[in-house]
Amino acid sequence: MVDRCVLTAGERAEVAELVNGVLGRCDSWDPLAFVDDSVPLAQELPARLRRFLVEARVNEVDVTVVSNLPVDEDLAPTPIGWDAAAKTGAGSREELVLLLCGSILGEPFGWCNQQDGRLVHDVVPVPGMEQSLTSASSSAGLSLHTEDVFHACRGDYVSLYCLRNPDAIGTTFVRGASLPFSPDMRELLSKEVFTFYPDDSHVGMTLNALDGDNSATPVRPSTTGTVLFGPKERPYFRFDIDFMEAEGDAAEAMREVQRQMASRVERVVLSPGDAVFIDNYRVVHGREPFTARFDGTDRWLKRVNLIRDVRRIYTMSASRSRIILG
Ligand SMILES: [Fe+2]
Repeated sequence: MVDRCVLTAGERAEVAELVNGVLGRCDSWDPLAFVDDSVPLAQELPARLRRFLVEARVNEVDVTVVSNLPVDEDLAPTPIGWDAAAKTGAGSREELVLLLCGSILGEPFGWCNQQDGRLVHDVVPVPGMEQSLTSASSSAGLSLHTEDVFHACRGDYVSLYCLRNPDAIGTTFVRGASLPFSPDMRELLSKEVFTFYPDDSHVGMTLNALDGDNSATPVRPSTTGTVLFGPKERPYFRFDIDFMEAEGDAAEAMREVQRQMASRVERVVLSPGDAVFIDNYRVVHGREPFTARFDGTDRWLKRVNLIRDVRRIYTMSASRSRIILG
C-alpha cells in the first residue's frame, strides 16, 4: 500500500491549465531557467493536492503517489536514450508537471556528471545497456538502492513521473521500517565503517566538491559513513549493495540487510499520469526487469531529485547552482 491522491477531472484540468500558462509564457523550455519559479508557482496547484504533498513531507511518508495528472495526448514516441530526449525536448510538459508537484516536497537539483547535467532526467531503456546497473537497463532488474548513496547531498526524495508503461513494469521498494534489525545489528549498522561509491550513472565522478576542495580525487572516489542514522526511534538508512563495502562483522551485517530486504519487497506499478515520490532516507527502490522493444512504445519516466534544503548544495559547491559538480 502506498499513500495515493487521485486527482478529480477538475483538478487535473487545473494542473493542465497552470502548465499550459507557464509554457505559453516561455520562449523555449529550459528546466534550469524555470526552476527558481517552481516553488512559488507550485502554490497555484489545487489546494487538496498541495495539502496531500505537504502532509507527506511533514509525516515522512515512505512512498507517495499522485494519480490522474495530465499527460500530453500527442505524446512523442519514447526516445531511444536520454540524449535523444534532450535533443528533441520530448515530454517537456510532463517535466513541468513533475517539477511543480515535486516543489511541494523539496527543491529540484541535479548532478553535472549525470545525463550531462540535466535537471530533469529521462528514464528509458537504452540499447546496449540492458544489463547495466543504471536506470537505462531493462532485461536486468534494477536492484534495490538508495539514490546516490555515496553523497551527503543525496536527495530526500526520488521523484518519477510516468509517461508510458505499457507492460505494467513495477517500481520495487523496501521500507527501512519493515526490516527486523536486532539490537546488535542496529549497533553495527550505526558504525562509521561502511564505504560508499558513486554508481555507474555518475560518469567520471571525483567528489572534489565534497568539501569545497578543488583538487580532484584520483581513481575511484568514496565516502565513509553509517547505514543507519538519524532519529533512534525511527531511523533513516542508506544502502546499495552494489556500491558499498565493509569488512568483518559489518560486511556480514550488510549481507544480512540484503537477505532481509529480499523478503520484504513491495511494488507499485506506475500508469501514465502517476507521479511517485520515494523518501530516499526511509526507502530503497529498484525496478523489475523487462524486455525493451526500442520502437517508441517502451516504458518512459521523467525523474527529478528533490532536496529539502537547497542551501546544503549551494554551500558544498560554493555556488548558487542546483547542479552538483562531480
Ligand atoms: Fe534509483
